[in-house]
Amino acid sequence: MKRILTLIVMVMAHVAAFAHEPIIIPTPKNIVLGEGSFTISPNSTIATRSSELHPLVDYCAKQIGLVKTNKSGDIELIIDNNLSGEEYRLAVTITGITICGGDYGGLFNGIMTLMQLLPEEVYNEGLQGSAEVPCCEISDAPRFEHRGFMLDVCRTWMDKEAVMNFIDLLAYHKINSLRLHLTDDEAWRIEIKSHPELAEVGGYRGGDSPIWPRYGKWNEKWGGYYTQDDMREIIAYAAARNIEVIPEIDLPGHSLCMATMHPEILCDYTRTNSASFGYDTRSAFCASREENYTLLANILGEVCELFPSEYIHIGGDEVEMSQWKRCPSCQALMHENGMSSTSELQQYFMLRLIDILAKHGKKPAVWNEAIEGGKLSDETLVYGWENVKECRTAATNYKTIVMPGQFFYFDMKQSAREPGHDWAAIFDWTKVYNFTLTAQGFTEVEQANILGFEGSFFSEAYASRNPESAEYLHYQTFPRIVALAEVAWVDGSERNETTFYTKMVEHYNRLDAIGIAYRLMPPKVVYKDGVLSASTDDGSDIFYSREPMGVEMLYTKPISTDKPAEYSFVARRGEAFSPEAGVATHFKTITPAFDITSSMNDSEKFSFDKAEGYGRIARTTRAGDVGDWVMFTFNEPVSCRRMKVATGNFQLPRYTFENGFVEVSYDGKTFERVGELDCGMYFIEYPSQPIKAVRITCTSRGNGAEWVSIQPPTIWPKL
Ligand code: ACM
Ligand code: ZN
Repeated sequence: MKRILTLIVMVMAHVAAFAHEPIIIPTPKNIVLGEGSFTISPNSTIATRSSELHPLVDYCAKQIGLVKTNKSGDIELIIDNNLSGEEYRLAVTITGITICGGDYGGLFNGIMTLMQLLPEEVYNEGLQGSAEVPCCEISDAPRFEHRGFMLDVCRTWMDKEAVMNFIDLLAYHKINSLRLHLTDDEAWRIEIKSHPELAEVGGYRGGDSPIWPRYGKWNEKWGGYYTQDDMREIIAYAAARNIEVIPEIDLPGHSLCMATMHPEILCDYTRTNSASFGYDTRSAFCASREENYTLLANILGEVCELFPSEYIHIGGDEVEMSQWKRCPSCQALMHENGMSSTSELQQYFMLRLIDILAKHGKKPAVWNEAIEGGKLSDETLVYGWENVKECRTAATNYKTIVMPGQFFYFDMKQSAREPGHDWAAIFDWTKVYNFTLTAQGFTEVEQANILGFEGSFFSEAYASRNPESAEYLHYQTFPRIVALAEVAWVDGSERNETTFYTKMVEHYNRLDAIGIAYRLMPPKVVYKDGVLSASTDDGSDIFYSREPMGVEMLYTKPISTDKPAEYSFVARRGEAFSPEAGVATHFKTITPAFDITSSMNDSEKFSFDKAEGYGRIARTTRAGDVGDWVMFTFNEPVSCRRMKVATGNFQLPRYTFENGFVEVSYDGKTFERVGELDCGMYFIEYPSQPIKAVRITCTSRGNGAEWVSIQPPTIWPKL
């Protein structure tokens, strides 16, 4: 009887384990569950008869912890020419596992699916013991051939290891293209042997570097670049993971870094300060200077040799065309060629580069503005970023990658009080997940030209945080990349947010095992009948803190209180965390009238009264020097629990007082020193009296920036 009971319990446990479909993201086209399971262990063997799959067998041996064999294996990898490239079939029986794929990519996709049938330990330490793989047949293929991600390694330097770690995260989600944004105004990150100074000088800014140090690491000389050997390693590492690395050399604009080292590339005209934003920053190649094309032929020639990708991205975004309008020689070229707009001059420039690429057998990829001046070559691939409309315009004539910032720029904030930019939109993973071409108005003709979707991470705001840790990168990109992976794999008509969210919460177990600091949804906070409660639906723990102590405690039960605004809540699991949540009054701020005075003058365009209206940031007319000060004086003394005063802007950290101290006055006459600036800002916590004035005094010399920006104070009222 005991034996029978044991057997029943064993069978029931088995049924329970496989009662639901395995959690696989992106969702496969077809899964048929069978009876029983295959027992996999670190002694299981893996084999292939195709020599081209040897790197994949090596990958599995290392990542999953399997034994390579030349004989027949428990796991067999087979190229099947009846399958299209990235298509695969995965069959698990009680005796073994067979994966067939159209090509290396198809097999890699099959392996990624197999890993999701295994315990999540395969992601960090490999199989630690035996595990049951449910018998099943999975047939699957991606919706799009291009499932991409763009990493801006210019504004924030990410070294080879950081890039490789990120490649792993993309690969686990069957993303197959990584575009490295290798050059921009702030850095040049790839070694060019014919012009070694580009990376050796242009890879660093701050300290004694001549490179414009707009985005932080403060005054430290900081940065790096990839040698061509480094890049070959990255390319090979990515290729083994079915990811093609596409380089972007951003031309003709965004070239300030290059121009700092080679000012001769610029248009030659008399400097004025009436250009954009009140300063004359020349950042675009002169389109009429013939030597520029020789220089770019050398540079792009090396890039074409180094990168095996079909496409080379040559930029084309945000060219500040006023430079070409004021350049006599660009104007003459336009006149000679009957061009009426500077966009046509950009077309001319891009066509010259396209000729260079063609000589090396490469196709051009460009940002959407590059097609505004007229036709580029038919084989040009356009990356639509500005908005959906520009993506649609591109797709009427060109193969197009869809990545409008409003849905696919993962440097955007995920909710209003979170870090990141907001110029395109504020959105979390649900907006990515719900993006469909049909709902966005793409016609059938346009849809036929869409090669795929791409997410991106521009890194201006990363440099001012802690780029030595991947936390901010993870937080901004996950789980938005999980949603991207799904929408690039599964058609919109087959998606359901509720079902997907349930799966994603299970998938969090894998993200936890990998150690990703992804963003959790904020806890739901309800205050009713004197009771404050918080909940999550993602298996996270909730922690709360209460003002003024601010010590974080585990939340275990609803809180009876008549002061709900004193509480805030955060969800955590593994390395992941959520934004702060609470009742609305916890986050309320006030805007009492105040004046800004300073030892420095204010700029005409960004005058102090802009900040005094709490609408915008103000600017001085020069950088701060030792002894310079800025003072905020309130019309009436302000009673509050917290006040933040700041020079600079966390996204543009250069425009701060590099070092300084803060004084508070309760009567407007005598001042009491309360602390030092940290990253240009200071939080006055629980002041003992209403504040009449706050003064910030600079203790360091100007840092090379043209001004100091001054933010309105942020003031949280007493609770
Ligand atoms: C871009 O965001 N300037 C492509
Ligand atoms: Zn010019």
